[in-house]
Amino acid sequence: MQPLPFPMMTLTSEAKLDLEKAGVLVLGVEPSADSGESSDGKTTANCIAVSSLPESLAATVRNACDSGEATGKPGELTSFATGDAQTPWIVLAGLGASDKRTRGSAIELGAAVVRSLASKPRQQITFALGDGVATENHDAVVAGAVSGCEGQHLYQREPSVSVPEAIAFVGYSAESVSRGEKLGQSINHTRRLVNEPPSIMNPTGFAQYAEKIASDCGLTCEVWDEKKLEAENCRAILAVGRASTSPPRLVMLRHDGGGDEAPLVIVGKGVTFDSGGLSLKPSEGMVDMKCDMAGAATVVGVMNALAKLKVPRNVIGLCGLAENMVSGDSYKLGDVIETRSGKTIEILNTDAEGRVVLADTLDVAVQQKPQAIVDLATLTGACMVALGIDVAGLMTNNQALCDAVQSAAESECEPVWQLPMFSLYDDKVKSKVADIKNVGEGRWGGAITAAKFLENFVADVPWVHIDIAGPAFVDSPKPHRDAGATGVMVRSLVRWIENAS
Ligand code: BES
Ligand code: MN
Ligand code: ZN
Repeated sequence: MQPLPFPMMTLTSEAKLDLEKAGVLVLGVEPSADSGESSDGKTTANCIAVSSLPESLAATVRNACDSGEATGKPGELTSFATGDAQTPWIVLAGLGASDKRTRGSAIELGAAVVRSLASKPRQQITFALGDGVATENHDAVVAGAVSGCEGQHLYQREPSVSVPEAIAFVGYSAESVSRGEKLGQSINHTRRLVNEPPSIMNPTGFAQYAEKIASDCGLTCEVWDEKKLEAENCRAILAVGRASTSPPRLVMLRHDGGGDEAPLVIVGKGVTFDSGGLSLKPSEGMVDMKCDMAGAATVVGVMNALAKLKVPRNVIGLCGLAENMVSGDSYKLGDVIETRSGKTIEILNTDAEGRVVLADTLDVAVQQKPQAIVDLATLTGACMVALGIDVAGLMTNNQALCDAVQSAAESECEPVWQLPMFSLYDDKVKSKVADIKNVGEGRWGGAITAAKFLENFVADVPWVHIDIAGPAFVDSPKPHRDAGATGVMVRSLVRWIENAS
């Protein structure tokens, strides 16, 4: 059984529109300056690049705008046949008012257009948006167009969607097309890793995928197998993975772009399937638990982007990989584990396994003497209760670092919200038997008590924990993306690392 090939299409930047090969033509439409409402009550809209079209096509497009069919509302897509032999099909993409356009709307536009055209094979889609998107967001349109080509339908024998052979961008620089392509493909790698079934993307399967990416993009890759994990005293990772027939792994990816500076380390929870262990989840809670390695998949996506973009920083990516299963050898409630750091943890719920895996993975991170650590994890249902499914939770021991991550996420229009780390929560993870226990007291504040547990393993390194349990994996599709894995936080972390100084 082979999955769909990873989407690859030719991406080009064109100085000017060449209708001979444009294929499907995508034009930008905005509401008219006079707030979009004409005296006869009809909404009037402008097509931005209409002057670059031959008169017959221009007239058809103007008619679509003047008739009120295309209004320029953000996200609106109006597709129609032109009757023109050379350019038979046009999509008018609503850009919204110019002061409301963001990097987020740029990426969604690129993705939604490509997805709306995916029901048929296409030779080329040509974006001719004029100056409808700000120059600094050209790469976002491209990244969106690329990410619109990947979905969760990996094993349909006759996929209902197809990838265009080529996508062209008129008036975009070669650099922004290339940057957008690299970002889009990095997001797609993250999504692919998450969307693959759990028995394929188990710890060994994940490690192999990471090794392949590393050799393609020029990252150094080290994989710790179960013997090495034992030699490195990663007893917490080994305990979580012990009941699985697919043994745990730790993947270390290294991007050396920053000379002799101390590295940044990004750490991901890679529970390739979370059954809950002996604290078994009910089916409704288990059904999407292939997504529980989304943090680790995000690390791989970000590292791929850093290498491809040749970002001048030293960054290490660590993935703690284990499958949380049930067997006669499962780790048990009441067990005490001596973690790699030496701190002992009492297991009171085997379904709070992510923090246990991260305990050792964060200790490996600390050993790299980093400037900062950022971890990503689908860690708690409680974070979804607190913030909803669209927002990632931030928790930190260093406000300046958290502000930097938050501002990168804001620039990328990925919603995040900080939760407090008051020391009054410290007691909630104290154990009567060991140094700490792996659950808080009751379910209140579960996202924060999980972060309090993690804080025990980062020593005094500036650290931000990002709980992506909500936004990493979603039930329903949107115009700009399929349901399933979203690739959330790849863009934000790339930007944070590019900005970090
Ligand atoms: N992987 C889950 C958290 C999760 C839930 C991620 C839903 C994505 C969607 C995690 O391992 C877990 O089971 N957490 C428990 C913690 C509890 C046992 C303290 C939870 O949130 O219920
Ligand atoms: Mn769990
Ligand atoms: Zn989990």
